[in-house]
Formats: sequence, structure tokens, C-alpha cells
Amino acid sequence: MASPTSFLSLLSLIAFFLITVSADPDMLQDLCVADLSSGIKVNGFPCKDAANVSSLDFFSQGIANPGLTNNTFGALVTGANVMTIPGLNTLGVSLARIDYAPGGLNPPHTHPRATEVVYVLEGTLDVGFLTTANRLISQSLKKGDVFAFPRGLVHFQKNNGRVPAAVIAAFNSQLPGTQSLGATLFGSTPPVPDEILSQAFQTTPRIVRNIKSRFQPKK
Ligand SMILES: *[C@@H]1O[C@H](CO)[C@@H](O)[C@H](O)[C@H]1NC(C)=O
Ligand SMILES: *[C@@H]1O[C@H](CO)[C@@H](O)[C@H](O)[C@H]1NC(C)=O
Repeated sequence: MASPTSFLSLLSLIAFFLITVSADPDMLQDLCVADLSSGIKVNGFPCKDAANVSSLDFFSQGIANPGLTNNTFGALVTGANVMTIPGLNTLGVSLARIDYAPGGLNPPHTHPRATEVVYVLEGTLDVGFLTTANRLISQSLKKGDVFAFPRGLVHFQKNNGRVPAAVIAAFNSQLPGTQSLGATLFGSTPPVPDEILSQAFQTTPRIVRNIKSRFQPKK
């Protein structure tokens, strides 16, 4: 028979999981258009004055056209999140468009705050994510296909075709956040010490410095 105190701690444990397994916190009002210029720090953004809210706060043409993919990885992510659509503040959703040159790669990365679902607009892609048991769950996608990447898990997409590819990505966060493994580990400021990375990857500091040189911001 559980004592009242252990019952209480069970309840708080359940409450803790209910809070932590949901995505962005639920909204408490119709709308709370982000005041991106406010100096006030809250979880998300403070609401701008309702008198100043307009349809433009809920509108974007930022992902109407393909993004430029002439970069190192041959892929570009263009967000349609609270930073470009301030009306998304507190709503717990956002989109992105990802464009891929032939052979282009959206390199292994995680979104700490969101599950992602992609819909293939055009082209063909090899995609996958890794579970915490280090199992690779991968799939080849073509136009019209949908694939889901669970929140927080490392994932990637590569254009395996000879023509450009593009997807629309949906997220259950107003700002999913991205940590790209290569850039995070080898391109941080200040840098992660060479010996940390050489030990972690079971290689030499020289190879670590070589990889780091590829992730330094262009001078
Ligand atoms: C509305 O926006 C205008 C222009 O940005 C600003 O000058 C004004 O103070 C704002 N009004 C309110 C009530 O926030
Ligand atoms: C990518 O292409 C655009 C448009 O053609 C050009 O303005 C830009 O300089 C290019 N960027 C790189 C990194 O080559």
C-alpha cells in the first residue's frame, strides 16, 4: 500500500513527464505575436501590443522559391518560424523549406525542441535517423513521400538524384533549434580542445585540426 507521500511523489513524477514529453508549452490566449525587438527575456517572446497586430504577422513568402544551394554541403534550410512569422509565437508549430543540389546533403543534425515531418516537393532523397540504441532507420524518398524524424534524434537527408530536390518540413515548435554535429563539434567558438575530440573519435589531434579547418568561419 503506497503511503500518501510516495503517492504524491508519483504524481509529481507523472506531471514532470507530462510537461517534458510535450513539445512547446500550450498557448494561454488567442494570439501572442512576438515582439522580436523587445528587450524583455521570457520563454519564447513577449507579445506585441494587440493594436499593432496585422495579417502580415502571420504571413510569409520566404519559402515560395528555391533557396541557393551553392554552398559547401549543396543544401539550404530556409526557416518559416517565429523569427520570420512572429504570429507563430506560442503556437508550437513552424515550417521550413530545404533545397538540395544534385548530391547535396543536409548533414547529420538534431532539433532539440521538435519532431520533424518532411514532404518531398520534388526530386529524390536518401534520408535517415539514428535511435539512442544506434540503429539507423533509413528510407529512399520520391516526390510526394512523407517521412518523420523524432524529436532530438540525429538525422540527415541527401539528394541521391541528378536534378535538384526540395522538401517542406513541419515542426511542432515555433523555433525547433538545430545542432549540426560537424559544425557544433568542430566549428564552435571557443573551440572544443583537440584532445577532447581526438580521444572522443579515437583519432589523432592532427586529423582533428584538419577537420576543424573545414568548419572555421570563412575569413
Ligand atoms: C505600433 O507600432 C508603431 C510603429 O512601429 C509604434 O510607433 C507604436 O508605438 C506601436 N504602438 C503600440 C501601441 O505598441
Ligand atoms: C551563389 O549563387 C548566387 C547567385 O547566383 C551568388 O550571388 C552567390 O555569390 C553564390 N554564392 C557562393 C558562395 O558561391
